[in-house]
Amino acid sequence: MDISFFKNAIQSHGFSLLRKNSVLGVDIGSASVKIVQLRLENEKAILETYGELATGPYTGGKVGQAAKLNDKKASEIIADVVRETGAQAKHAAIGIPLRNSFVTMVEMPPLSDEELKEAMQYEARRYIPIPVSEVVIDWWRMPEEKQPRADGQVFSKNVTAKLLLVAVPKDVVEKYKRIVTDAGLEPTAFEIETFSMIRSIISREHSGVVVVDFGAVTTKMTILDKGIIRASHSFDKGFQDMTIALSQSLGVDFERAETIKREVGLSSKPEHQGILKVITPLVDYILIEVERFAMGYSRKYGVPIAKIYIAGGGASLNGFVDYMVKKFGIEILVANPFSKVEYPAFFQPVLREIGPSFAVAVGLALRGLK
Ligand SMILES: Nc1ncnc2c1ncn2[C@@H]1O[C@H](COP(=O)(O)OP(=O)(O)OP(=O)(O)O)[C@@H](O)[C@H]1O
Ligand SMILES: [Mg+2]
Repeated sequence: MDISFFKNAIQSHGFSLLRKNSVLGVDIGSASVKIVQLRLENEKAILETYGELATGPYTGGKVGQAAKLNDKKASEIIADVVRETGAQAKHAAIGIPLRNSFVTMVEMPPLSDEELKEAMQYEARRYIPIPVSEVVIDWWRMPEEKQPRADGQVFSKNVTAKLLLVAVPKDVVEKYKRIVTDAGLEPTAFEIETFSMIRSIISREHSGVVVVDFGAVTTKMTILDKGIIRASHSFDKGFQDMTIALSQSLGVDFERAETIKREVGLSSKPEHQGILKVITPLVDYILIEVERFAMGYSRKYGVPIAKIYIAGGGASLNGFVDYMVKKFGIEILVANPFSKVEYPAFFQPVLREIGPSFAVAVGLALRGLK
């Protein structure tokens, strides 16, 4: 492993020593592993340390390059980022990729929680393409929609109960458990990455909201209505594709292409037209998928989308917010997950900058505090 890459890849600062009730959020992304350590004090989440380590160099690739890590390498990188950040918490909440999970909306007769528990075991079979005995399932009730009648009485619109059904294969959970345990941590919670992200970036939202995670390899989208998750979807197109395309078309290596992508982005300056021509179609491809997902849901359920929150490393693409505003004509907000935690004021600029890519890790650590 090239040590200089290793050093460049780490962004961390430990500003506190071990506390008994500290927890870690661990986000094992395809281009980098991110961790965040929080402590609960007087009902407030205090940021203790955070850090990110690129995965590429662990498989002979470059910083920013997505890597398929085997379990051993994954444990190694987690242990390394823990050591480099000075994180001392042992308890950790771990993110599970959305692509390894099933998230779907299910309609059931209005049953009690007890009845539902039993019924869902059977019902889940209809929705999940692998045997129910091989998955961990969970669900949440959607709030009932109440509608006023002509005589002013309020009645429940639903004769059925809407539920959000979530399933993760047991072997996926077991695999993550092994990786994290071998890294010297004690996993206390597993959570689908998009749910963690929502915890760290959404506050009170009453209208239809879409949250998009622009990762290196996958793009993940979630729709919320009245603050409740309604649907999630991921597809295998990400921001690494732009670096690869730039590297090919400009004849430069991956690292140079990555730097160009980050520095130039969607700049419309005349001298950047060549770069824009390469990046724009790939950005558009991803945004068309986002639009299809958002509009499809919006039409089906009559929920207008008021704003889109963007997160993941790709959310920092230069000029992206303006570009999306023009495309969607609604408010586009860059995630600021560290706004949910306390930290020394002088960290604000850097935390604001790296916030989008730490949204999952912050959300996981917040989950771990509960
Ligand atoms: N300023 C920037 N401009 C453009 N792209 C950026 C910028 N900063 C980071 N990226 C891109 O974001 C991607 C990394 O994002 P992130 O850390 O969210 O991915 P990941 O979690 O490792 O991947 P995934 O979620 O797909 O598994 C990389 O492709 C990187 O090049
Ligand atoms: Mg990610």
